[in-house]
Amino acid sequence: MNNSIEANKVKASMSRGSFATALGAFVATLGSAVGLGNIWKFPYLTGANGGAAFIIIYVISTLLVGLPVMMAEIMLGRKARANAIATMNKLSPSKRQPWWVIGAMGALAAFLIMAFYSEVAGWVVAYIFKSSFGSILSTNPEVTSQAFSTLVVDPIQSLFWQWLVLAVVCVILVRGVSKGIEATTKRLIPLLFVLLLIVDIRSLTLPGAGEGIKFLFSPDFSKITAAAVLTALGLAFFKLSIGMGTMITYGSYWPDGQNIPTSTARVMFSDLLVSILAGLAIFPAVFAFGYEPGAGPSLLFITIPSVFASMPFGNIFMVLFFLLAAVAATGAMISLVEVPVAFLNEQFKMSRSKATVLTTVAIAVFGSSAALSNSLLAGVQLFGMNLFDLYDFVSSNILLPLGGLLIVIFVGWFWGDDKVKAALSNNGSLKNQAIIAAYTVIVKFVTPLLVLVVMLRGLNLLPF
Ligand code: PFF
Repeated sequence: MNNSIEANKVKASMSRGSFATALGAFVATLGSAVGLGNIWKFPYLTGANGGAAFIIIYVISTLLVGLPVMMAEIMLGRKARANAIATMNKLSPSKRQPWWVIGAMGALAAFLIMAFYSEVAGWVVAYIFKSSFGSILSTNPEVTSQAFSTLVVDPIQSLFWQWLVLAVVCVILVRGVSKGIEATTKRLIPLLFVLLLIVDIRSLTLPGAGEGIKFLFSPDFSKITAAAVLTALGLAFFKLSIGMGTMITYGSYWPDGQNIPTSTARVMFSDLLVSILAGLAIFPAVFAFGYEPGAGPSLLFITIPSVFASMPFGNIFMVLFFLLAAVAATGAMISLVEVPVAFLNEQFKMSRSKATVLTTVAIAVFGSSAALSNSLLAGVQLFGMNLFDLYDFVSSNILLPLGGLLIVIFVGWFWGDDKVKAALSNNGSLKNQAIIAAYTVIVKFVTPLLVLVVMLRGLNLLPF
């Protein structure tokens, strides 16, 4: 009797999929964290917010907010072994407390983020092809900036590249958690590091590169405003894929014996390393060519072509660079789409293929509004933003911090310290009491307060 219950449990957990090894779980999770956030968002936000001082605020945000939320999500997911909505429902101390709302908000955030993210990934893929034909390779900023505008104002091209990207994501996800997500990220993450290093060396050896290094590493705190702090916090959430159930979903595929504090800290530091490497690839070159570091979202698409144009065999390196930017984006996108896929798959007993196709088609339809926000829908403005910027703002600055806040409140105040202890020490087999004690204090007091104050201040809801 007991045996058949056990057998059923094993069957159920096998059918929902999991990462095969601890290394695979680490790489897949890093694959979710690493993405256009490192190669596109981190550099342009650092550029627009004054450089080194912004990076310091960002690192503090990841340590006091990012890492605690990530640990919370992974442990909840691994405990419940279910999608984000079901996890919160299962672990809620009373059915009357609607913690599942966190998961539902996460699914909404997945749609908003995918709408603009798949568009940027689409530009990256377009650049792989365009750079192969040499059409955007020029050291003249006017030529590269003209090439970029031509792409984004063309509705057909915008939709085409976005949908192509979504089709690739769909194909990977249909193959499942281990054969799709784990196998893909395991191959691509090491390549990304190698390519970044090659570009770094090139960028750092350009004449005039020193100014860019100074910009990245010598802080000027007068540039820090309340808005910049909110941006850094929003970036920490976005970068580490937290606050919306992605890490709950991935945590549900983590092996039982994996050390959560150590592995999540490794993910955080490796992700930070990728961001710094991306900054080193971009800023020395930005300064060497006399560009403005505060160019905003177009920094990657206007500056990078010039970097490559200035080196021998630049077109080959540029193809590889954008290929790897696309690869980085892929690991992040599959984790975003996995949130609603896991939900549909488990909750409605829909097959994995059906759930994946349905979700990707829905994202393609909704995401078109972001893809067309520079052309047919350029006139649609809300709160002074076009749809692309609006989706980014609402997800990074409202939904993710709010989701993260609720998650740490749940773990710190409702779930129970004994359960946190058991989850983080693997039921007592790890001797990490000091870490757990510190974590309990941070998750109860520091993280929620920080997120709350910064969110309210950023939304102009505080009197100071
Ligand atoms: N962390 C990804 C990046 O930095 O590009 C973006 C992301 C992925 C955000 C998954 C949120 C998420 F759930």
